[in-house]
Amino acid sequence: ATTEVYRKRLRFRGTQRRLPQALIIGVRKCGTRALLEMLNLHPYIQKNGAEMHFFDDDERYANGIEWYRKKMPYSFDNQITMEKTPSYFISREAPARIHAMNTSTRLLLIVREPADRVLSDYTQIMESKLRKGIQIAPFHEKILTPDGEIDETYKAIKISQYAIHVLRWLNVFPRDQIHIVDGDKLIADPFSEIDKVQRFLRLPLHITAENFYFNETKGFYCMRNETFQKCLADSKGRSHPFVDPALMSKLRKFFAPFNEQFYEMVGQNFSWPT
Ligand code: A3P
Repeated sequence: ATTEVYRKRLRFRGTQRRLPQALIIGVRKCGTRALLEMLNLHPYIQKNGAEMHFFDDDERYANGIEWYRKKMPYSFDNQITMEKTPSYFISREAPARIHAMNTSTRLLLIVREPADRVLSDYTQIMESKLRKGIQIAPFHEKILTPDGEIDETYKAIKISQYAIHVLRWLNVFPRDQIHIVDGDKLIADPFSEIDKVQRFLRLPLHITAENFYFNETKGFYCMRNETFQKCLADSKGRSHPFVDPALMSKLRKFFAPFNEQFYEMVGQNFSWPT
């Protein structure tokens, strides 16, 4: 914690607080933190650690863009400031507001197989409620209606219907300003996905395969460079409750048509199992 405080206060000569030129807009539980931390290995990327909720929260947005800029970290003029707020993806207002900040903002969207995302989302909510001593209904009760259909009103199900949300972004931003990261690949082979992002951002290719190593204890890739190594917090890469495979398969079938629409809209096929 102390080093974080120092890092925040430390200001190199020639640095300023700048508005983000690139944003990670979501999707929640698809690896947004891993993406931001991994990109932060790049010397030309300056991350804002906290989720700002500036573009999706009316009260915060009302503070104005200067308020937002002042929350950003100090950066050199050759650096890209990057912020991530996963709920931007599902916000009605965020696309136009981000466009109003800067029409050339580059957007990073990370997606993951939608049924796994629902389970990950459920697990996060379950654990945060448990910490407050509240037990939530089991997974099948959350995702099914009383007559056994997939409950489309459950928020986690809505979020995984990527096609519905991505349309709002494509109505405002040209496709080539949005880079879509495959969150399942980011888990299995982070370098290949991160390399595509550094190319998309037209940065010198400073991040290499050497920056990632598999940590057997964590069961995920972790990061290192000359001076440090780090894994994500324990809340990232949790074990999920057991779910009947038939239920997961019902969920996957439900998402299939939305997935096809999504592939079509973005011109990228993720081949998620159905
Ligand atoms: P689980 O905890 O359900 O496995 P977000 O940061 O958007 O909330 O996403 C969290 C997810 O990031 C985790 O979901 C995990 O699967 C994924 N992830 C991807 N790469 C990771 C890594 N290197 N370490 C830990 N979690 C990673």
